Amino acid sequence: MKGFGSSWVLGGLLVGTVLLAGSVAAAPAAPVSKQAAALAAFDTIQTVLQHPRCQNCHIPGDAPLQFDAGLVHNQNVQRGSNGLGAPGFPCSTCHGTKNLPASYGAHMPPGAPGWRLPAVNQKMVFIGLSKADLCATIKDPAHNGNRDLAKLLEHVSHDKLVLWGWSPGVGRAPVSVPHEQFVAAFKAWMAGGAPCP
Ligand code: HEC
Ligand code: HEC
Repeated sequence: MKGFGSSWVLGGLLVGTVLLAGSVAAAPAAPVSKQAAALAAFDTIQTVLQHPRCQNCHIPGDAPLQFDAGLVHNQNVQRGSNGLGAPGFPCSTCHGTKNLPASYGAHMPPGAPGWRLPAVNQKMVFIGLSKADLCATIKDPAHNGNRDLAKLLEHVSHDKLVLWGWSPGVGRAPVSVPHEQFVAAFKAWMAGGAPCP
């Protein structure tokens, strides 16, 4: 029992030291409570980035994925070096700048301006990454199209391929988190210093 008691004291000291060290290190960026809120907000960001509507294009391979199950795209579609498709078989053969009218029904090629995969030399992979790796990847200018946090926020707020995730066309579920909530989570994450778990 004695040993039990003293390990609690020791534990308390350790926790105290870690908390103190944490708040000192974080002082210039954000208070600890904001950081905790920011880490919680990153959970929401992860849910969106790894939703099928987003991660089907954010892939390590060279063929886009389809459906909630993330199956390899039909018709042997390929990324091509610039992401626009193989030479002679671009995404725009089938994908327009907007979805086809709902009256066409399900299984129509979805559309948005600039429909493509990221270029082969910077694939911007989201699928299959741990929380920590996903966070590090989207913050790294060498992996995110040379964007700082302000530019990332701009992208997730207004980019047409991103917004498509909330109106993906007949037969596809939109991203499960509302867009405003996603943007709010992004702002909360930034306000807490954009920490990675
Ligand atoms: C049709 C394919 C496609 C879909 C669907 C798509 N993206 Fe992207 N995404 C891209 C391309 C292409 C780029 C690179 C654009 C650039 O650099 O200008 C990109 C870049 C990004 C970036 C910036 C780079 C990075 O790694 O941080 C973010 C963030 C992003 N997308 C988030 C999303 C989110 C969130 C969704 C779903 C709501 C989504 N994307 C859906 C193709 C797609
Ligand atoms: C030969 C026509 C064709 C070409 C070329 C094509 N697609 Fe598709 N794509 C489709 C069709 C049709 C669907 C819808 C499938 C369905 O819902 O059954 C689709 C669906 C998708 C989806 C699925 C969205 C989701 O979340 O389920 C993505 C992503 C996609 N295409 C990306 C691309 C990209 C990127 C390219 C170019 C590199 C491309 N496609 C080239 C016909 C095509």
